[in-house]
Order: sequence, then C-alpha cells, then structure tokens
Amino acid sequence: MRRFSTLLFLCLLGFVSGFVGGFAEERQEPSLAQLCADYFPIGMGIGPADLRDPAVWALVRHHCQQVTIENALKPSPTQRQPGVFDFTQAEALIAAAEEAGLGVHAHTLVWHRQTPDWFFVDEAGEPFSSELARSRLRQHIQGVAGHFRGRVQAWDVVNEALVDGPGEDDFRPSPWYQAMGEEYIIKAFRLAAEADPEALLYYNDYGLETEPKRSRAVRLIKRLQEAGVRVDGIGIQAHLQVDGPPIAEIERSIVAFAELGLRVHISELDVSVLPWRQPGSDLLPEDQIFSDGLSEEMAAKQRQRYRELFALFLRHHEVISGVTMWNTHDGRSWLNYFPVQDRVDHPLLFDRELQPKAAFAGVLQALE
Ligand code: GLA
Repeated sequence: MRRFSTLLFLCLLGFVSGFVGGFAEERQEPSLAQLCADYFPIGMGIGPADLRDPAVWALVRHHCQQVTIENALKPSPTQRQPGVFDFTQAEALIAAAEEAGLGVHAHTLVWHRQTPDWFFVDEAGEPFSSELARSRLRQHIQGVAGHFRGRVQAWDVVNEALVDGPGEDDFRPSPWYQAMGEEYIIKAFRLAAEADPEALLYYNDYGLETEPKRSRAVRLIKRLQEAGVRVDGIGIQAHLQVDGPPIAEIERSIVAFAELGLRVHISELDVSVLPWRQPGSDLLPEDQIFSDGLSEEMAAKQRQRYRELFALFLRHHEVISGVTMWNTHDGRSWLNYFPVQDRVDHPLLFDRELQPKAAFAGVLQALE
C-alpha cells in the first residue's frame, strides 16, 4: 500500500511538473509570426544552445516562420579539413526547424571569416592560385549547398565582400578576391544555382543601410546581373544603434535594392544601446552603464526605434522577404562580446529572462 501511494505520489509529481514545465514554455505575448503573416516572415538567428533550451526553442517557435542558422553552415564547421564535410550541427538544427515547420535561411557559403586557413593556401603554404581558389570554391559550394539541396529556402551565397569606409575600391581584399578578383562572386552564384536550383540566392552584408556601401552594393549587383547570374535578393544585416543610422537612410537602401528587382532580407537585426567602439577596444565606464539592466529612458528610446523600424519595414513589405532578429534574446546576442569583450548589451526584443521588452511593445505599436 505504502509503495503504491509513493508511486502514485511520484506519478502525480511527474504529471504536475510536466504540466507546469509545459505551461512555463507557453508564451503569453502575441506571436510576431502571426501578426506579421500578411507582410513578411519573422526569423531569428539560431544555434545549438537555442535548441537545447526548451524555453528558448518555445520562444523561437512562437514568434518565427523561419530561422537563419547562425554558425553551423559556415565553412569552419562544415569543411574543417580539405574535402571532409561535417554536417552534424547543421543537420540537427535544420531537422529541428523542419520538424517545427520553420523555413531555413542558410548562412553562408563564401566568406573571408570563419573559414579554415587551409582554404586560402596551397600545399607549400603560399597564397592559393586562382585555379586552386576556383576548385575550392566549386568543391565547397557543391559539397554544402548540394548536400542540403531542396531543404532550405535560401542561401546567403557570399557574405561581406564589400569594403568599408571611403575610397575608390569596392571590394574587400579578401583571399578570395586576391586570387580571383570579383569573378569569385559571379562564380559562387553560378555554383550555388547549380547545386540548389530551387533555393533563393542572396548577397549579405553589413553597413548597407548607408553610403558608401549602398552604392557599392548597387554596383556589385548590377555587375552580377550583367554577367547573367541569378541573384534573388540582398541581406541588409541591420546591426543598428539606438540613435542611428536615420530611418530615411535605411529606407533609401531598401528602395535602391528594390529598384534592382531584388528581394530585401533584413537579415541580422539588432539595436545596440551601447556606444560603437573599434573592435578589440578596452572596456570603458560608458560601456558598463547598462550592466545591471536597461534604464527606463533607454528602454523607451529603444521602443521608439523598433517602432520606427517596423513601420519602415511594413511600408516596404512588398519587397521585404523577411525580418530576422540576431539572435533569440539579449543574453544570446553577439554584442555582449563584440566589438568589446564583456559588455552587457540589450539589443533585442526579449530580455535575458526571455520576457518581452518595451522594444517588443514598440513593434506591436507599429503593427497596430
Ligand atoms: C556577421 C555575420 C554573422 C555573425 C555576426 C556575428 O554579421 O554575417 O554570421 O557572425 O557577424 O554574430
């Protein structure tokens, strides 16, 4: 009898905690995916940690129609050694997205960062020749995009090929560019179209919200179009500050890219509340102003900024193919360690406890 009642107690406990656990993961706030359904899909940049945490995964499922794989499809994890492909992480994330009915925006095939050093050198350790670069490009794109053929909606084919700041040159002097010139971009788009013909193909970059990168991107896209390659869209990363760049500037970029016939993905949206610093700078007192939480004043500023941003995206919803937050919540943002280590930033719509912030209310206001 005693054993039976202990068993009954344990069963009840299991049931109650299961119920409470399930309940805790249920989101109370309105779903962005539902609210934006008539305009554009909402996405988030995700990684394995988001998948492991049931509460974060519930947040993703509640608010998104699509996800961008933050790191797992980049060259470092997928082809760490020449010709040896590893899709363990990417498979887990894509399978979870498929199971949840979420579309996948795949990121990224060709980049100068998060790419193993061996990619860029020959057997003697010298910079690779254009011939070797060409064959590596082919092998990588066929290997990765070919593997996931038909399972993702879109690829960021090339990431961040344009140079920053003033100057005559459009192209970042990356190892790809040094070996092949701008032909590497043309070739990458051709190869991606062959490897995964149904997927949409994007060029993705930061700083496209303002000049001089807006015009550089326009020139790049025109060159690709003249070369006869298919480019379906452009990703404006949109790593923004609370006080800039101005909405009118961002709007100019959306319009300029739409005029080229492109879809526009707001691909990595966040709104930093901390001052911009040169990467690697020392931590200063002004970097720590919100280490214990966001002030009410700054929360209100950020709400207004998100409100204006979403109002802008809604005005251009016909060309906007998605709005993707980078990443799931403030605690997971890369801005906590970039451009300065150990800062506490609050750039997203959900705080570290996964609760909707004033910024979230700002988005709702834009949607009203
Ligand atoms: C860039 C890349 C992303 C990511 C962020 C930092 O914006 O496109 O893949 O690495 O930096 O999270």
